[in-house]
Amino acid sequence: MLPSQRYRQPDSGAVLAALHKVNAACGYLPEAEMRKVAEELGVPLSLVYSAAAFYAIFSFKPCGRHRLQVCEGTACYVKGSTGLFGFLAEEYGLIPDATTEDEVFTLKRVRCVGSCALAPVVRVDNDTYGRVTPANIASILDLYRKG
Ligand code: FES
Repeated sequence: MLPSQRYRQPDSGAVLAALHKVNAACGYLPEAEMRKVAEELGVPLSLVYSAAAFYAIFSFKPCGRHRLQVCEGTACYVKGSTGLFGFLAEEYGLIPDATTEDEVFTLKRVRCVGSCALAPVVRVDNDTYGRVTPANIASILDLYRKG
């Protein structure tokens, strides 16, 4: 049997729906759970991994309590998002895809979140902050650290 005959064509939304379910339950995508998704849907594990890797909402590692997203789309880049990454690295030791030692924040790089007029944009969980600077990002993070 050819490898292509072992798998069936997945329902286009089934893989993402399954990944969302695992992400909601675990807070990230453990390898064992992704293997289960592939097995249950009858699709190659590589397809599950590629779908998971494409979307910034998924992580392969456990995340902090809050998801901190810094946009590095064109408008945000031009307006200084690079400085935000530099500040977060210097002040918090936080680099993209890493989690703070206190497990409060996980930093994610994202491409345009659709709020370009507010560039540079930072999102914390589902909240969006515009015109963020190194001078005011610390006070934004404090809101979540305390809350
Ligand atoms: S480029 Fe950052 S919100 Fe569009």
